[in-house]
Amino acid sequence: MSSLTNKRILLGITGGIAAYKSAELVRRLKERGADVRVIMTQAAQEFITPLTLQALSGNPVHTDLLDPQAEAAMGHIELARWADLVLVAPASANFIARLSAGRGDDLLSALCLATTAPIALAPAMNQGMWHNQATQDNLTTLRARDVRLLGPAAGSQACGETGLGRMLEPEQLAKACAEQFASGLLTGKRVVITAGPTREAIDPVRYLSNHSSGKMGYALAEAAVEAGAQVVLISGPTHLPPPERVALVPVVSAQQMYDAALKHAAGCDLFIGAAAVADYRPEQVASEKIKKGVEEHTTLTLVKNPDIIAAVARLAPKPYTVGFAAESERLLEHARTKLERKTLDAVIANDISEEGIGFNSDDNAVTFIDNERSIQLDQRRKSQLARDLVALVAARLR
Ligand code: C5P
Repeated sequence: MSSLTNKRILLGITGGIAAYKSAELVRRLKERGADVRVIMTQAAQEFITPLTLQALSGNPVHTDLLDPQAEAAMGHIELARWADLVLVAPASANFIARLSAGRGDDLLSALCLATTAPIALAPAMNQGMWHNQATQDNLTTLRARDVRLLGPAAGSQACGETGLGRMLEPEQLAKACAEQFASGLLTGKRVVITAGPTREAIDPVRYLSNHSSGKMGYALAEAAVEAGAQVVLISGPTHLPPPERVALVPVVSAQQMYDAALKHAAGCDLFIGAAAVADYRPEQVASEKIKKGVEEHTTLTLVKNPDIIAAVARLAPKPYTVGFAAESERLLEHARTKLERKTLDAVIANDISEEGIGFNSDDNAVTFIDNERSIQLDQRRKSQLARDLVALVAARLR
């Protein structure tokens, strides 16, 4: 069974008799490991109660765009950011028309405008409504915007007619959602990723380190696995659970990360340096705990650590090598310099002077830079950003 572990699915339910199947759909999505939140339109609540969906999803159901309480807890923008996938099932002809027109006058439509997550629709309607040219034109518009259509199926309908317009069964929808994440873009590729901070020992109890959480590197490892790659994740100390189906190589110091990186990068297709590697380490590591002296000042002599990614970029054959540039000023200029100096194929630049993104945060906004162009990826969850970055890199690898 393909997995939805740790995936956040926002299920939009619109007004149609197939809404009764959405309850079963929540269960199927959760069985595959997804965290599910439900949004219902006004009409959907005529067919099934929010209470049922709340009980099954284990989360409050969202119904109103202008609800001060909901906005204080998780408003439409937070929900839009929260989602890895927005699935609207059933999607009525009316909702499809409103989505194609870009309306934002209820919670679900506003959220679809705001989200950077992929949107999938499971249409459900009378066969005449499905075949109507207006509906078909709306679907053409939505397909051109990369909205994914799941179904509909053909068969007998609640209205007594037979034809196209039945919503796919919950199990088929849950499976399609899992497949949505499995892009296959890196099938057969070997990928090595470094992540997290390094710790540079001063004595047996003290070290130099930094605030890197490892979240971006771990998200990239998960996205690469989803895309079909074989992934080695070389990680400094973090508090994150090891991602599924990833070969985790735990390290502590920059030197250990260097040794592991060069060992695993030989012959790989793609290397991503997401680790925040300490530039320097203490020249001497005291074998006993350093005692507090009477002096007011003390000095640590530091020596430079090897540059891991630059060494990987010198390998022959060279993997496609992607580095990060965390900068607090003149972002693009410094990132381009890094690209050239380390002979990288691409650099992912992020502005660490901006609050709410980057180091230790769940969100990031970056610019992807290679020799040809720079592509800006606005603020989004690191998991979504990782998928978008993997897609960009995969296109270049091919
Ligand atoms: O030179 P700077 O540390 O700004 O470069 C950042 C990029 O280089 C990141 O991709 C980081 O993982 C990598 N790096 C490395 N080894 C080092 C220092 C940085 O691989 N010693």
